[in-house]
Amino acid sequence: MRCVLLCLSLTLYASPSWSQEELGLAAPDEVQQSGLLKHILPRFSLKTGIRVVAAETGEMELAVGPPGDPVFERDAIIYHLRIEDDARQLRFRDWLLSDIGKRTVESFAPADGGAFSASFEITAIEEEIEIDGDAALGEELSLTHCGRCHVIGPQNRMNGLGSTPSFAVLRAMPDWSERFEAFYVLNPHPAFTQIEGITPPFDPQRPSPIFPLAITQEELEAILAFVAVVSAADLGAPLQLQ
Ligand code: HEC
Repeated sequence: MRCVLLCLSLTLYASPSWSQEELGLAAPDEVQQSGLLKHILPRFSLKTGIRVVAAETGEMELAVGPPGDPVFERDAIIYHLRIEDDARQLRFRDWLLSDIGKRTVESFAPADGGAFSASFEITAIEEEIEIDGDAALGEELSLTHCGRCHVIGPQNRMNGLGSTPSFAVLRAMPDWSERFEAFYVLNPHPAFTQIEGITPPFDPQRPSPIFPLAITQEELEAILAFVAVVSAADLGAPLQLQ
């Protein structure tokens, strides 16, 4: 089923429209300071191409009570999202209410204070796995940028670094899409990776040790589309990645 949806979306969404216009999201101080928004907003933007930024005032607002849709909770406060009747804002709300959005909220570990919970008894709007990128472009990009270390497929079977998991191995993991979406924060990548509009520039004291890997969010989306169609390695036993 997952594959059917995926393959279908790949054809339907082959040419993404990449909107650069930002939407502002206002939130109470404790939410801003927790770092939650910095965790979830780039992930949403990556998925959809819709840029949402934390702001003093904005088209959208998170507030400590109704009206709005209850989206997450912490310390017995239920935060509600208030939006306007706008397609991109609806998309953001639907994503926050989807399983993926909830997991993204719950996977955030605040530096202080408890975690946010997103488990409410409300009718969640089903989100299909929607990958907007171009798989053929993604293959080229993967070969150029990731193929330096990873075996991405028969294309560079002989050239990967032995210690680096192949894309087929990674693809076989149940949460492969989350790992790939966030690869730039997972070691060893942060030391040498720049994603336009998401990662801060390298610290001048700690320049990239190797030729930097620099791609755009749209290019990462294309890589995801490629990985989505890579066949998972048939390895029998469940995988463990250290
Ligand atoms: C300089 C070498 C290098 C490059 C370039 C590189 N990777 Fe990796 N990558 C690694 C290594 C090494 C690991 C294994 C890390 C580990 O096991 O802790 C890894 C692991 C991963 C993982 C799994 C991470 C986890 O913790 O679950 C993903 C996903 C990934 N890489 C994606 C990519 C993508 C996508 C690209 C290209 C855009 C890329 N990598 C480019 C070296 C590289």
